[in-house]
Amino acid sequence: MTEQNCSHSFHHPRPGAPLYCDSVSLEDLARKFGTPLYVYSACQIAERLMLFQQALAGREHLVCYAVKANSALAILKLLAGLGAGFDIVSGGELERVMAAAPEAAGKVVFSGVGKTPAEIDLALKAGILEFNVESEAELELLAARARRLAAASRLKTKARFALRVNPDVFADTHPYISTGLREHKFGIDIRRAPAIYKRAVKNRWLEAHGVSVHIGSQIRSADPFGAAMERVSRLVRQLDREGIALKSVDAGGGLGIDYHGGSFDAAEKVREYAAALAGALSGFGGKLLIEPGRFLVAQAGVLVTRVLHVKRNGAKTFVITDAAMNDLIRPALYQAHHEIVPVRRRAGKPQMVDVVGPVCESGDFFARDRKLGPVKPGDLVALLDAGAYGMAQSSNYNTRPRAAEVLVEGAKARLIRRRETMADLLGPEMV
Ligand code: LLP
Repeated sequence: MTEQNCSHSFHHPRPGAPLYCDSVSLEDLARKFGTPLYVYSACQIAERLMLFQQALAGREHLVCYAVKANSALAILKLLAGLGAGFDIVSGGELERVMAAAPEAAGKVVFSGVGKTPAEIDLALKAGILEFNVESEAELELLAARARRLAAASRLKTKARFALRVNPDVFADTHPYISTGLREHKFGIDIRRAPAIYKRAVKNRWLEAHGVSVHIGSQIRSADPFGAAMERVSRLVRQLDREGIALKSVDAGGGLGIDYHGGSFDAAEKVREYAAALAGALSGFGGKLLIEPGRFLVAQAGVLVTRVLHVKRNGAKTFVITDAAMNDLIRPALYQAHHEIVPVRRRAGKPQMVDVVGPVCESGDFFARDRKLGPVKPGDLVALLDAGAYGMAQSSNYNTRPRAAEVLVEGAKARLIRRRETMADLLGPEMV
């Protein structure tokens, strides 16, 4: 797969041709499966995973894909088949991993600030690799559930945990997705961690397995990752001197991509990132875990949508598409930028437009004052870099069925999630 080079999966194979995903025309896919349609390149996802695996090859490691970025079962299965583990944040995400790749249960780390007893039980029974614990209360709950499970069954194993420490490192990203400062809800103040570990190792239902950290998302520079890891590394050495030898260090996720279509060398980014982690962790011989989400899937996916109308209001031109904020909420929620390109280019001058969906909110936009086109009603446009936090954050707002999803594997494309029907939407309700 690596020889195929899928770093540029979305391309026009020849002048005048429509946009392709690897060897498959997006026009053909839209005709066959309808729009809005998410299309993913399996080859690019595999290639990105392998970049991390290669960059960390010198040490014991596990890439735990952050399921929240894109939780399609077919993508989980693809990644599991290539050796990935998973970072989950809910019982639901664990159910997804078990459905797609039950053999990967032992490679799962469970993050999140509010795990319920039922979710903890599910994960204990599944035998996950470790719980990334975010508070002392959660650690107590974890011990209590492990003890209870042991009493009720023959499962007498300790619960492996890592404290998610908050390193108080600033990561330059959108405030909604920055997590590594003391004022955030995430993790445990790193200064309090030693005392908590010392108490926990006395509990017979807990195993101090590792330490974890996650400073935020869409972070473009390797420096904050290195700075956070320096602090974690200091903690690991301190614990080691005190007789607590951790087996794993989890560096979290967060490595960012370029959403502006600039030249972007993914391999180089991963090398810098891995070097920053390795530099800070020299002397630690245990397992290095990482939890990338966006970097693996964002650029491997597009959202294909059809132009319904082109409308002028005053000085403005609106391109109204059949996809809306319920399909891809990132622009509305984070003022995120997604490149938008016509699937088939038309001759003529690009126009300055707003690209908007049919949802009844002014926040329902994909781009404002953007040069696009020219496009006409009926044309297809693709929202690029939509593979991460696109479908995963979609909703049924305005009673809109969710989009279908297609996975392209070389020259083949297969439906991995059918479009929702009205029956799917109305099913759970009672009049
Ligand atoms: N690990 C933990 C504990 C996390 O909270 C996250 C993301 C990840 C790993 C994966 O981060 P990534 O490698 O994807 O940056 N919806 C937002 C992003 C939210 C990220 C939440 N946590 C967006 O669309 O930009």
